[in-house]
Amino acid sequence: MNPVKITETALRDGHQSLIATRLKTDEILPILSKMDEVGYHAMEVWGGATFDACLRFLDEDPWERLKKIRKVVKNTKLQMLLRGQNLLGYKHYPDDVVETFIKKSVEKGIDIIRVFDALNDIRNLETSVKAINEAGAHCQCAISYTTSKVHDIEYYVELSKKFEKLGADSICIKDMAGILTPYFAYELVKRLKEEVNIPLELHNHCTSGIASMTYLKAVEAGIDIIDTAISPFSNGTSQPATESIALTLKDGIRGSKLNLDVLNDIAQYFKPIREKYRDNGILNPKVMEAEPNTLMYQVPGGMLSNLLSQLKGQNALDKYEEVLKEIPRVREDLGFPPLVTPLSQMVGTQAVFNILSGERYKIIPKEIKEYVKGLYGRSPAPIDDEIKNTIIGNEKVITVRPADLIEPGLKKYEEQIGDLAKSVEDVLSYALFPQVAKGFLENKNKPEEQYENQEIHYITVTM
Ligand code: CO
Repeated sequence: MNPVKITETALRDGHQSLIATRLKTDEILPILSKMDEVGYHAMEVWGGATFDACLRFLDEDPWERLKKIRKVVKNTKLQMLLRGQNLLGYKHYPDDVVETFIKKSVEKGIDIIRVFDALNDIRNLETSVKAINEAGAHCQCAISYTTSKVHDIEYYVELSKKFEKLGADSICIKDMAGILTPYFAYELVKRLKEEVNIPLELHNHCTSGIASMTYLKAVEAGIDIIDTAISPFSNGTSQPATESIALTLKDGIRGSKLNLDVLNDIAQYFKPIREKYRDNGILNPKVMEAEPNTLMYQVPGGMLSNLLSQLKGQNALDKYEEVLKEIPRVREDLGFPPLVTPLSQMVGTQAVFNILSGERYKIIPKEIKEYVKGLYGRSPAPIDDEIKNTIIGNEKVITVRPADLIEPGLKKYEEQIGDLAKSVEDVLSYALFPQVAKGFLENKNKPEEQYENQEIHYITVTM
């Protein structure tokens, strides 16, 4: 039996799940050469939140981060997460932006691109898969895993076959909410291994407290690769700990090939960093608590905390339970979309509106209307005519691939950002996060002298 391969997520999902993606490049760089010795299958280092947080909170260029990581990591594959036609953002981008973004990401050092669509509508993956193949990177298509009356094993078998046909080099079961239960995982993995010929990876979260057990059953069923995070950035809403999983597998017939001593060194390095974020409040102890509610309501952990703060802002915390119960109802109305970005936020917001306004669909966000019109892709199950009518009246539903309706956009972004962009990468940063990237580039391009003055001013203020 072949050993289980491990993808380390600490530098993307791990710190995204636990400390709001705040790890700085300076905190990452010193340990990279050690991480490169472990024998990981890959290290996940880039994605929507890492890109956004670099620009928004850390005053860092995400492209520079990637370049610096690549320079040190010579043996291990670098992986990123991409939201298909949404790239790293929350809406569909034109094909030319998708193609250029992928080309540049691979050029700057990404080896494996895990690409998914929130609705599992493969039309939304066509352009990215083609671009990833053309760029020579490994294309991993991810299933946005969820449960509903339409999401049974047959559904996932069909989807995986479509991925394989589309040009995927491997498939990932992406369980963002941590709701894949151990025995079902066994059945699912076993079936998929029989039906598809490319490697299979499992990505889950500890949110509901069952993730390690799910991994173990998946290993028994023949999963090729699993995702874990080094212990200081593991558990809670993150992945199971790399060391714990490696130790668990050690005595089995599929023991991983990871170097446990080096893993310990890496954990020792990250511990004080994690402590720092706990002390300054960025690591909220709440994210470390097992939340079996996710299993009952199918709501990802990140969405629960989002919901709490939304309700707190409206002075309506007493409606929390009611909103939680409304979420599965909205989800059913909308044809059971998986609760992953951006659908999780959209469904959550609609549920909040339905409860707080006292009448279902009295207030409907623009995004929900666009979703029902088909602009995000095809809903997993058809939407009832009655619901459709309530939400969009007699407006038409599109049947083409949503991005077919979007004009090429790279030129437009180039013109808008003008001289502030010094490279295609700058233009892409702007295309993805317009306001944030513009602010970042303005700051970066300030003449030295003016910049110094700024710093002095800043120090004066904080003193
Ligand atoms: Co994840």
